[in-house]
Amino acid sequence: FEVVWDASAAEKGGWPSFMAKEVSEEPEAVANTIRGRVHPGAEGGEVVIPELDGLDELFVGIRHIIVIACGTAAYAGQTGAYAIEQWTRIPVSVELAHEFRYRDPVIGDDTLVVSISQSGETMDTLMAVKYAHEKGAKTLSICNTQGATIPRESDAVIYTHAGPEVAVASTKAFVAQITALYLLALHVGRVRGVLSAAESADHVRELEAIPAKIQRVLDEEQAHIEQFSHWMADTQSVLFLGRHVGYPVALEGALKLKEISYIHAEGFAAGELKHGPIALIEPGQPVFVIVPSPRESAELHKKVVSNIQEIRARGARVIVVAEEGDAAVLPFADEVLRIPLAGPFFEPLLAVVPLHIFAMGLANAKGLDVDQPRNLAKSVTVE
Ligand code: AGP
Repeated sequence: FEVVWDASAAEKGGWPSFMAKEVSEEPEAVANTIRGRVHPGAEGGEVVIPELDGLDELFVGIRHIIVIACGTAAYAGQTGAYAIEQWTRIPVSVELAHEFRYRDPVIGDDTLVVSISQSGETMDTLMAVKYAHEKGAKTLSICNTQGATIPRESDAVIYTHAGPEVAVASTKAFVAQITALYLLALHVGRVRGVLSAAESADHVRELEAIPAKIQRVLDEEQAHIEQFSHWMADTQSVLFLGRHVGYPVALEGALKLKEISYIHAEGFAAGELKHGPIALIEPGQPVFVIVPSPRESAELHKKVVSNIQEIRARGARVIVVAEEGDAAVLPFADEVLRIPLAGPFFEPLLAVVPLHIFAMGLANAKGLDVDQPRNLAKSVTVE
């Protein structure tokens, strides 16, 4: 009788892959990033980020925020930018780190450069942070790895507490990064007097409800998504459409699919459809559509439903990610993936989960190694 000790299997804690384990940890990643950063306050939920102690004067003085990152971290930045701008009224731009320093950007001591990196070692992002520093900007890093190089090179850091992420495809770090950006936005919004204590407390309540809602998506949709991803194992190309905060979610869904399934995938802003991408639609073309909440924005919802009708009329196979109770999408959808209701800006934290499950399901259906995709490294430490 011999006990075979497989260290890697033990680390996966019974899951078939690190990616499966890490997707299952998405609720915890959000909860851990919030933990210790919300205090009762006057209205029952004030964000206090101990790492940012003493920086309030800086937050009052800044006139521009530039978010820099690569890959999935950049999509987290693009998602967070909507809430930062809304809650702080500071203009925000989001840039790929490797583009940023090659165009002589207009930055100075009233610019806050926020870098996002799971590993904290991505060379493109590190070089961009150093460049921003040289130009006199203040730098804040959002990072998942304690003591990594990027936070050490930054003026301040907010750590995401997603836990170690081993799979090359970033999943739980993405939701933790968005969470950290929302905490930052709420804090800065309060410091600048843009948000009232009551408004901030409402957003905090929404954020605190997210982990349980992600868990519901995992419990209620995982088996369904895995099933249809198996039927789609021979698919050659998948498109993703989203609008507003759903747009970076579409980009993230496409990146994840390329990365681990080796399938051609593209994400588009739904409003761009008629400016070109609709020419790609032919019978059977699978298209994921992230549908905005009809409660939060009836206008955007109507526009996206009309995009769905346009692609359906041309034979697309439509897979919608829509909030519970949204019946308007039913007549035009081949598959409906439901997410719980969430407040404005919070939908991406839920809508991305089915896309992570789908990418993993399709890679599994093709018999691929979801944790170690070809040609990729977990941390890209060369430029
Ligand atoms: C995501 O699935 C990728 N593996 C990749 O795009 C990654 O997000 C990017 O390289 C940035 O990495 P970082 O967060 O460690 O800086």
